[in-house]
Amino acid sequence: MKSSEIREKYLRFFEEKGCRRFPSSSLIPDDPSLLLTVAGMVQFKPYFLQQKQLEAPYIGATTAQKCVRTNDIDIIGTTGRHLSFFEMLGNFSFGAYFKDEMCAWAYEFSTEVLGFEPERLYFSVYEKDLETIDIWKALGVPEDHIVIMGAEDNFWRAGPTGPCGPCSELYYDQGPSVGCGKPDCAPGCDCDRYIEFWNCVFTQYDGQEDGTLVPLPKKNIDTGMGLERVAALTQGVYTNYDSDILRGLITLGEELIGNAYGIDTKVDLSLRILADHARAVTFMIGDGILPSNEGRGYVLRRLLRRAVRHGHLQGIEGPFLGTFVDAVIQEMGSVYPEIVENESLIKRVVLAEEDRFGATLRQGQMYLDSALDTLQDNVLDGETAFVLHDTYGFPFEITAEVAHERGIEVDRSGFEAAMSVQRERARAARSDDAWGSYGGVFSHLLKQLGETIFVGYLEKSTSARIQALVVDGEVVDRVEEGMTADVILDRTPFYGEMGGQVGDTGKIANDCGAFEVRDAVIPEKGLRVQRGLVTAGYLTVGDEILASIDVMFRNRVSRNHTATHILHWALREVLGDHVKQAGSLVAADRLRFDFTHFEAMTPEQIARVELIVNEKIMDASPVTFYETSLDEARAAGVTALFGEKYGAHVRVLECGSYSRELCGGTHVANTAEIGFLKIVSEGSVGNNIRRIEAVTSYDALSYVNALQSELKDTAGLLHVSPSEVVERTARDLEELRVFKEEARRLQQATARREVADVLAGAETLDIGYPVILLTISDIESNELRSIWDIVKERMEVPGALVLAARTVDGKAALLAAGSKEAIDAGFDASALIKQIAPLIDGSGGGKPAMAQAGGTAVSRLPEALDAAREKLTAQAGL
Ligand code: SER
Repeated sequence: MKSSEIREKYLRFFEEKGCRRFPSSSLIPDDPSLLLTVAGMVQFKPYFLQQKQLEAPYIGATTAQKCVRTNDIDIIGTTGRHLSFFEMLGNFSFGAYFKDEMCAWAYEFSTEVLGFEPERLYFSVYEKDLETIDIWKALGVPEDHIVIMGAEDNFWRAGPTGPCGPCSELYYDQGPSVGCGKPDCAPGCDCDRYIEFWNCVFTQYDGQEDGTLVPLPKKNIDTGMGLERVAALTQGVYTNYDSDILRGLITLGEELIGNAYGIDTKVDLSLRILADHARAVTFMIGDGILPSNEGRGYVLRRLLRRAVRHGHLQGIEGPFLGTFVDAVIQEMGSVYPEIVENESLIKRVVLAEEDRFGATLRQGQMYLDSALDTLQDNVLDGETAFVLHDTYGFPFEITAEVAHERGIEVDRSGFEAAMSVQRERARAARSDDAWGSYGGVFSHLLKQLGETIFVGYLEKSTSARIQALVVDGEVVDRVEEGMTADVILDRTPFYGEMGGQVGDTGKIANDCGAFEVRDAVIPEKGLRVQRGLVTAGYLTVGDEILASIDVMFRNRVSRNHTATHILHWALREVLGDHVKQAGSLVAADRLRFDFTHFEAMTPEQIARVELIVNEKIMDASPVTFYETSLDEARAAGVTALFGEKYGAHVRVLECGSYSRELCGGTHVANTAEIGFLKIVSEGSVGNNIRRIEAVTSYDALSYVNALQSELKDTAGLLHVSPSEVVERTARDLEELRVFKEEARRLQQATARREVADVLAGAETLDIGYPVILLTISDIESNELRSIWDIVKERMEVPGALVLAARTVDGKAALLAAGSKEAIDAGFDASALIKQIAPLIDGSGGGKPAMAQAGGTAVSRLPEALDAAREKLTAQAGL
């Protein structure tokens, strides 16, 4: 049975039992507890937890789900059954059907639809779930085909927390010829004889962070069947790689490396890794994951680099993964259209990563080989693994794999220590805030005073009471003119720096004193602090004051903040959905937006983004916000930052109908208030992270004005109109080039004449061929060679030259050069220079025909020339 047929038959079978067919969800789970979608049940967690209900008349759900698992990445390729990417055929019940029905259907599907002979089937049962044994027996399974196993094999969880439960698994016996042949070989053995192809989980618990298992309100079913394994079994082949879905990729690998599969285990390993990883990377990028040094991006990078290394190991030259991507798309694109839609993105990302790693792979491999060759014991130090990671782009796991091939372990804790030293260094270089040094003063104040009320979304100014004053980390009662201090109020209109948006500035004042707020921060969640200078009089704790933000400043910041949201939206429009916010700064005079993307934007893309942002500004759409629960915001598809901790209640910011993001910042009320956005720069700030800087409104106007006035000034200098600057500059540059060339020609002619003058008085040594010994001053060191050209021209009999020179920058230089005839007669410029260079405290070298040295001892140049004379005379036997 072809795999496409199995997929369809499975889904139909469960549809007929009353399940609703759902599409596969993305490999990026909507679930912060998981890095990747590892099972079909991931998208159904809210149903197991009774947060969502399946509509009638359905009794369950069924899917073909794309999954990536990398917990056994090291094993992939060494067995026939492990894959990093696979398709899971699943069916799920949320309190409707349970064990009895599920076991019966699993048995029915396996024997009647897949046609597996009952004698080949084995069933594992969790040791504390003996009731399931009876269910299998009642279906006719003989006792010796039921195997009891512990929690490690038969208690299933997707991650540390969430829905989980005991499970029962179906195995297929491929026969004794396939496995390890050991007498105790049985289901659960590491070999390929008994293939576990279907896992039925009886999802009864919700695992808590502390490890306890809270019973779920209902008893559920979560099953998963590995499509590739079942395809291999029904097709009568022994491994996933021989099944119809993967065999094409193996064949492609065979063609590329020019070696057949199934002959040499090392070649097979590489071919399997290529076939497996090619699918994983195609689907991961297709779902918007980009290579990076952390999280799921790092998983992708490891897979990509491991594939590249195995390709090179088998002698493939140059980039090749794109060919695999084509083959994966061809094979699976009709079922998963997202890989077809994102084809060009996938190929560009793969190529960029191949180029990046390919450039250092060879050197890294050499570095690693030599480290392994010179090893005293069987452990490679963590520092070397770190250099490989940092300089050559070797993920730790690749280093470990290469070392492992030679029976060597790598010191992981040493590697991690080196990594954390580097991280610490980077953190120290970044952190410039003094808040940390204040120790516990703010957490103490938060406990004492409670959270500050923030009124700044609606009010620009408010009366409030001073609750605390802090000077240099010390709590005080009173501050006076000239002091820098931190003021804490019971309610404040000042936005404290957060989410990339800078803090407000403004004024705090009453009849006794005035305080200029230069920054507002939130040193402890909930506690808002105004920092600045007492500009007049004094303030004391308990004072009633008027707190007013600088409205102009706030407006500028708000314009930039709303513009940042529109920019984010526009980047996704132009570059694709893989664009994710990686950081941002929203200041008054500019905005900075960092995002994931794998190559420099083209000038056309930048122009397009700028254009559509300005279109949205001119659309004059209202900007509104509402508060909701995090779950509802997620369900509505609001853009949130992955890995960011949001509270249960969130603020959703809507710009027109196109952009919706979770955001606690301040914004304009209508996009038109932004006025105009101008992109100032686009560049790289790290691996696959780009940065755009832009200005809006008055700052955009000043930016454009500054450019215009520079252009006008330039035009003034050139005596042309601004529109003629480019043409005129091009012409002037061409003229300049011609002049420079002429000047150089004239200089050379002069030099020739000068050399000729000096030559007239130079000493010529005759040692069978003439050697000119010459001293020259005030010459550029890079001109020494051209003197030999001049001398050579003027020599009647071909010979050699030894030149001692004081250069224009006051250094000593030596040059020796010889004609072919001189070399034939025994002249060796390189040997000579090496002998005499120490005399000028220098060093150098070259070839027998030409050698040069530089040094510092200018006063000893004559000595060096004397020495040359002696050596040459002695060499000639004179
Ligand atoms: N969630 C279980 C597994 O992944 C069954 O689908 O094995």
